[in-house]
Amino acid sequence: MKKDFVSIQDFSAPELQSMLDLAIQLKKEYFSGGNVPLLKGKVLGMIFQKPSLRTRVSFDMAMRHLGGDALYLSPNEIGLGQRESIADVARVMSGYVHAIMARVFSHDHVLELAKWSSIPVINGLSDYDHPCQAMADTLTIIERFGSLKGLKVVFVGDGNNVAVSLMHMVTKFGGHFVHSGPEGYDIHPDAVTLGYRFAAESGGSVTFIRDPHEAVRNAQVIYTDTWTSMGQEAEARQREQVFPPYQVNQKLVSEADPNVIVMHCLPAHRGQEITDEVADGPHSVLFPQAHNRLHAQKAILARIFEVA
Ligand code: CP
Ligand code: NVA
Repeated sequence: MKKDFVSIQDFSAPELQSMLDLAIQLKKEYFSGGNVPLLKGKVLGMIFQKPSLRTRVSFDMAMRHLGGDALYLSPNEIGLGQRESIADVARVMSGYVHAIMARVFSHDHVLELAKWSSIPVINGLSDYDHPCQAMADTLTIIERFGSLKGLKVVFVGDGNNVAVSLMHMVTKFGGHFVHSGPEGYDIHPDAVTLGYRFAAESGGSVTFIRDPHEAVRNAQVIYTDTWTSMGQEAEARQREQVFPPYQVNQKLVSEADPNVIVMHCLPAHRGQEITDEVADGPHSVLFPQAHNRLHAQKAILARIFEVA
């Protein structure tokens, strides 16, 4: 196992599968009497440059479930790269806590933290990817369909950080990933190149289809996310003009496989990328998906601390 958990692309399918198996085991143990305190005496330092509900609370609770502790450092406190260089923050933190989880604007910042820390670093979302989210997403898909192999997973909307990690996960496991979004909002080309490579190795595929109705045909998973990610607020108006044809609504869902599940990393902007009817409807797995962050991250933590 690598020192850091920065991107799905850094791990092999067997490594990811083994972490997911551990997540399933830890979830089962949690609901049948509680987890073994594998991380007793360990503290996770959580650096946030952006707001969070799920990442903050699920990492904090994941540490508690495993007998450890977490320290929250808000965007105002550290001033990563502003008040102090990232290299200095990394080296100071390495003497205080046992691992760092960081939510940053620039992906380079998480890479820089990992480079200078002697302790493990977990990417809690960057402008490039969101690997912890993809772990929880995959756990949710496995619970419903058994595996990703052969599944058609359609990401509808902005080709953002969540799309990158999902694409890499789906293509590592032989699934068929489709992105459907407007021109100008495509997935990062370097990430797509890797997606093609992973798909070629696993028997999966990556496809881009502008028309969302055509894209979701026979899909087992429809995934969407906000049209405007954190840090892009100045573009919100412009994005609201372009994205409405990509709304995940009842009509779009009815055009997919009858057993389709609808996923969203949350927070949702109801009435924009997803309607209430779909978010609260029979195909939605939004809340089990959010809850799985907890169990997926316990597995990530147990692995980076090398206790399971
Ligand atoms: N999905 C997700 O990462 O949510 P938060 O931004 O609330 O952490
Ligand atoms: N794409 C979103 C995900 C939030 C969890 C963002 O970066 O804001």
